[in-house]
Amino acid sequence: MSDEAVSDDVDENKRNFLTKTAGVVGAIGAAYVAVPFIASMEPSEKAQALGAPVEVDISTIQPGELLRVMWRGKPVWILKRTPEVLSALPSLDDQLRDPLSKESDQPASIQNELRAIRPDVFVAIGICTHLGCSPLYRPEVAPPDLGKNWPGGFFCPCHGSRFDLAGRVFKGVPAPKNLEIPPHRYISDARIVIGESEGAKA
Ligand code: FES
Repeated sequence: MSDEAVSDDVDENKRNFLTKTAGVVGAIGAAYVAVPFIASMEPSEKAQALGAPVEVDISTIQPGELLRVMWRGKPVWILKRTPEVLSALPSLDDQLRDPLSKESDQPASIQNELRAIRPDVFVAIGICTHLGCSPLYRPEVAPPDLGKNWPGGFFCPCHGSRFDLAGRVFKGVPAPKNLEIPPHRYISDARIVIGESEGAKA
C-alpha cells in the first residue's frame, strides 16, 4: 500500500498543494478520489479510497508547520501549534462568532476551547464553512495584506472569511461556522488515525 501525503508550511490553496512524501499509511488512495481511478480498482481498494481511515506519522511535523493529507477526498490539516499560539488563543474569544464551538462540527470529545485532543496538535478539515474553498494558512502576525489586527490563522481567499489557529471563525465574515474537526485518535505520540474516533478499536 503506498504512502503519500501532501505537506508544506507555506500558504497554498487546494489547487496548489506542494507534495512531499510523509508517513501516511493506510487508505491513502483516498487522497485522489477520481472516477477513472476508482473504476480501475478492485472492490476492496474502492472501499478504502471512498472512506477508510488514514494513518499519519506526525512525528516530523515541526512547530508552526502544517501537514496536509487527504481523507474521503477532503483536505485534512494537521498543524503543530507553538506554545505562543496556544497561549494567545483564549484572548481572541471576544472576536469570535462561536468561541466554544457550540454550533460547530467536531467530535464531542474535542469540543473544547483549543479544539484538539492534544493541545499542540490541531487537526481540521481544510474546507471553508461558507462555500467550500480551502483557506490559506497564514500564521504570521499582522502581515500587510491582512492588517495589524491579524493574529495568525486561516484566511479564505474566496470571500474573506477568517479563522483562528483553532479553526474558530471570526465575527463579521461570511463563514457561519468554525472549521470542521474530523474524528481522529492517537495510536501513539507519533501516529494518529484520521477517520476513527477515540476509543475505536485499533
Ligand atoms: S468560501 Fe470561504 S469565504 Fe466564501
